[in-house]
Amino acid sequence: MSAQFPAARPRRLRRTPAMRRMVAETRLAPAELVLPMFVKEGIGDPQPVSSMPGVFQHTRDSLRKAADEAARAGVGGIMLFGIPAVKDGAGSSADDPDGIVQLALRDLASDVGDSIVVMTDLCLDEYTDHGHCGVLTPSGDIDNDATLERYASIAVAQAEAGSAVVGPSGMMDGQVAAIRAALDGAGHPDVAIMAYSAKYASAYYGPFREAAECAPQFGDRSTHQQDPANAAESLREVFLDLDEGADMVMVKPAGAYLDVVRRVRDAVDVPVVAYQVSGEYAMIEAAAEKGWIDRDRTIMESLLSIRRAGADIALTYWATEVARRLT
Ligand code: PBG
Repeated sequence: MSAQFPAARPRRLRRTPAMRRMVAETRLAPAELVLPMFVKEGIGDPQPVSSMPGVFQHTRDSLRKAADEAARAGVGGIMLFGIPAVKDGAGSSADDPDGIVQLALRDLASDVGDSIVVMTDLCLDEYTDHGHCGVLTPSGDIDNDATLERYASIAVAQAEAGSAVVGPSGMMDGQVAAIRAALDGAGHPDVAIMAYSAKYASAYYGPFREAAECAPQFGDRSTHQQDPANAAESLREVFLDLDEGADMVMVKPAGAYLDVVRRVRDAVDVPVVAYQVSGEYAMIEAAAEKGWIDRDRTIMESLLSIRRAGADIALTYWATEVARRLT
């Protein structure tokens, strides 16, 4: 070999689609995708979410149809969010057996419950009139321990209606322990907890607040959600949640926090979940609509990167579409 040619030729393994497919280090599969879904009480037709083209606030009927489509596409799970018709300070409808999520859960448990994992977001912000994730003290702070009592009750209501996995997303201290104790005490030791462990106070949640109608009426979430400046703090949150009984841990958002996903993956031996949030979805859809990026390729690249960073499971609003493309 002449010295002017390089000895190592990595390009050999990139020459053809078949070769690239064979040597790919990371793959996507429908089963590791989870579809977040919104169901709203008291609407006659599904309502499009303007900042999330392709995403809807569902009626109970349209939810059933969309969940069935997800299951048929092989999507691994759905994460359900409810939007009640009436909100109050305590978020009373969150643990009402006839609250919208509980009704939808019963529908889904009988429709698709054997073919897809039916999960529920467990928080108060969609249910409170002030839009905060917990109940408030008279001075307007979130009362951590009073909120835990509400979460415990919501967990039991969701489990009784058929949720297989509850996802506490409120970032209250001690929430996983409180929920685990409540589930066990009410005869639901088999219901798992997917803890939103490392959840940042993120501007990327913007479009979700339209979808779930849960923008805080005053203040923000930075006294309980994490500061984007911090990464070691995420490990602290993850280990606390595991000690308290979490079965899976989540990092959220995903795309801007891939370093955190990797650190968590390297530190734990439970499934690591990453949530590709509403703002990540909206940015790609908006840029694609303007013709500035290739929509389909960007979607696949964004999800592959989340997997490459170490997430075992990704929540994404594109779950059904991507699952179909993969099969
Ligand atoms: C809280 C919750 C939020 C999201 C999921 N669960 C909003 C928030 O914390 O403000 C955001 C998800 C997204 O942006 O897609 N119940």
